Amino acid sequence: MKYSRITGIGHHVPENIVTNEQLSTMMETSDEWITERTGIKQRRWVDPTKDTVANMAAKASRIALQRAGLKEQDVEFIVFATITPDYFFPGSGVLLQRELGLEGIGALDIRNACSGFIYALSVADQFIKTGMYKTILVVGAEIQSTAIDPTTRGRNTAVIFADGAGAAILQASDRQGILSTHLHADGRFAEELYVRDPGSSRPREERQPEQILDTTHYKVVMNGNQVFKHAVVRFMEVITEALTCNNISKESVSLLIPHQANLRISQFIQEKMNLRDDQVYNNIMHFGNTTAASIPIAMSEAWEKGKIRENDLICLAAFGSGFTWASALIRW
Ligand SMILES: CC(C)(COP(=O)(O)OP(=O)(O)OC[C@H]1O[C@@H](n2cnc3c(N)ncnc32)[C@H](O)[C@@H]1OP(=O)(O)O)[C@@H](O)C(=O)NCCC(=O)NCCS
Repeated sequence: MKYSRITGIGHHVPENIVTNEQLSTMMETSDEWITERTGIKQRRWVDPTKDTVANMAAKASRIALQRAGLKEQDVEFIVFATITPDYFFPGSGVLLQRELGLEGIGALDIRNACSGFIYALSVADQFIKTGMYKTILVVGAEIQSTAIDPTTRGRNTAVIFADGAGAAILQASDRQGILSTHLHADGRFAEELYVRDPGSSRPREERQPEQILDTTHYKVVMNGNQVFKHAVVRFMEVITEALTCNNISKESVSLLIPHQANLRISQFIQEKMNLRDDQVYNNIMHFGNTTAASIPIAMSEAWEKGKIRENDLICLAAFGSGFTWASALIRW
């Protein structure tokens, strides 16, 4: 059986930096509050006249391809994780395919929020192991900034979510790369972190209100306390699951890259698992929470900084809306 390996990664974030101080001019909040509760100092927000989820994804993908020593035409299949597609439909996979000039190849969208990239990686891994494809482009990209409510009413989510894109090239290999992936969900908590509209399970007048901006149902709704409580438990569980499945001790993990939900969550996991600082990678301080894009952005940045080397054991873990949670253990 073939294995799959990540042979190239890349990321792209918008130029526009938004600091906590800038947010404090839009809503009642402060650098102190945001830093203490989330660890975030600044984030990137798109210029909606220039950036789209698909074109940011294309930029990240080209970098990943170049690092893998491949051309666009070598990609056989696209798996695209996002909950903020450019259109309600079709999905972003086809738009990325169009950007890259890869008409005809399959493109699949994954809508598992913050766990999306790991779900996408897992799907791609299975396709490669069955021999269906040899080279798959796996992407996580989000534009959250245009969905948030940048007023005091929306401050509990507006200060957290941000924009960016990350991409990985997964290729068939005789040597083990992705060792295992572990996917979970618990839909009982779907409404603890969600955007209701434009959901289809609504009367027409609600789904297409006269005054769309009068409704708050297009905004992210988040019960922060519930999310936090579940996140810390599920992160730990799913990381342990990956380690146990591969009979690997936490000391052997070269780098844990958790979904950048909140620095306090990452620090909690690190402390509970007794991991050293150099074993956990965080960049939420600079980029905020970019949902499905956060893991590939962090992975790409860590690689650029030389923190991921050949043969390293990398653990990815995520938790988010659904709730969903997932992990992946990778031999680089
Ligand atoms: C969102 C989160 C930072 C809020 O922190 P918290 O300590 O739980 O704060 P609470 O929601 O209890 O709110 C405390 C107070 O701060 C206020 N507050 C909320 N957002 C604020 C902001 N941006 N600035 C200032 N005050 C704010 C609340 O209105 C509340 O005021 P009140 O006590 O007068 O009602 C925290 O719950 C959290 O990190 N949750 C996890 C979220 C997450 O990781 N989401 C991503 C999942 S992928």
